[in-house]
Amino acid sequence: MKILVTGGTGYIGSHTVVELLSKGHECVIVDNLYNSSEKVLDRIKEITGIRPLFYRTDIRDKEALREIFKENGFEAVIHFAGLKAVGESVVKPLEYYENNISGSLNLYELMKEYKVNKLVFSSSATVYGDSFKSPLKEEYGRGRTTNPYGTTKAMNEMIIEDYGKADKDLSAVILRYFNPVGAHKSGLIGERPNGIPNNLMPYISDVVVGKLDHLNVFGNDYDTKDGTGVRDYIHVVDLAKAHVAAIEYADGHKGVEIINVGTGTGYSVLDIIKAYEKACGREIPYVITDRRPGDIATCFADPKKAEELLGFKTEMDIEDMCRDAYNFICKNPNGIE
Ligand code: NAD
Ligand code: UD1
Repeated sequence: MKILVTGGTGYIGSHTVVELLSKGHECVIVDNLYNSSEKVLDRIKEITGIRPLFYRTDIRDKEALREIFKENGFEAVIHFAGLKAVGESVVKPLEYYENNISGSLNLYELMKEYKVNKLVFSSSATVYGDSFKSPLKEEYGRGRTTNPYGTTKAMNEMIIEDYGKADKDLSAVILRYFNPVGAHKSGLIGERPNGIPNNLMPYISDVVVGKLDHLNVFGNDYDTKDGTGVRDYIHVVDLAKAHVAAIEYADGHKGVEIINVGTGTGYSVLDIIKAYEKACGREIPYVITDRRPGDIATCFADPKKAEELLGFKTEMDIEDMCRDAYNFICKNPNGIE
């Protein structure tokens, strides 16, 4: 299939492009490079032998996006482009709504105009909010979101559902990711956020390479096996493969499906520290601090629907995730420059 990948130079997008290319799909990337680098295209070429066609374009620029639709004749869209920092979204809510909602609406309108009926959208386990008990099942619906970023994901889900009700030709798969971590085994693509990381795995990576001196563990008094927060970490290459399965599923079905993408297993912060110590062969200094406001104790997926509908099952474990995260940060301590 000829697939438009928005946000395709970003962390999850780049890994997905690699998996799509390796399955013989053609990818065209649209990204404004707000949170990624054009260098990623060279890295994709190094891994796959193919440098995908790239447009440095903002999806909020509808006319520019229309030209791209006109020139290309896409069969499908995988939509990653968006802003994703939870804390920042609380401070800059309007930027988040403008980017994640207006940008997405432009894209969906052009899909309709150019009769591109297959869509995979990046949603998040954050839409379950704090309303349900893990394992989280898709049928629980959406809980109360606790920040504008999460609300933009819930709103996109609703927009796609309504679009699908009105347009019976639409075939959309909404993937609710749990906690993507790790990197491609080559160490050529991966994630190193700008500034001080907010999320656990990139923070640990920065401690390991000596950019930060210790990890703060946000609370050890949760009702979990060791008191620290439990999450469902998924290797980004597994997650990328879920997108290949989803877009291939969309090619042959109609309607809108919401599907969790997680392993179904929860690991605590201390489990992750231990696994990362094993991967890098040294001790990771940490300090227990207060809980982070808004955090929940436990969040992991029920992954059955992905297996039943997409035939998708994760293959990589926590050791693979830490090994590949470590390999990437050693090779790219300042990210992909
Ligand atoms: P990322 O920031 O690495 O990738 C997003 C890409 O979109 C970046 O390359 C950025 O430059 C681009 N972009 C942003 N706004 C744009 C715009 N208006 N026009 C064109 N390009 C634009 O993030 P990621 O981790 O790869 O996440 C991809 C998607 O998955 C996002 O929608 C994110 O919200 C969602 N998601 C991520 C996680 C996670 O933990 N990483 C979890 C759940 C959902
Ligand atoms: C984050 C996002 C959430 C998104 C999810 C999946 C935030 C606030 N939330 O949540 O919207 O859906 O990823 O990608 O960014 N921790 C520490 N010390 C740290 C960092 C984290 O102890 O320095 C702990 C947290 O308390 C949590 C676990 O590690 O228990 C994982 O945290 P993080 O990586 O930020 O992911 P989520 O909280 O699941």
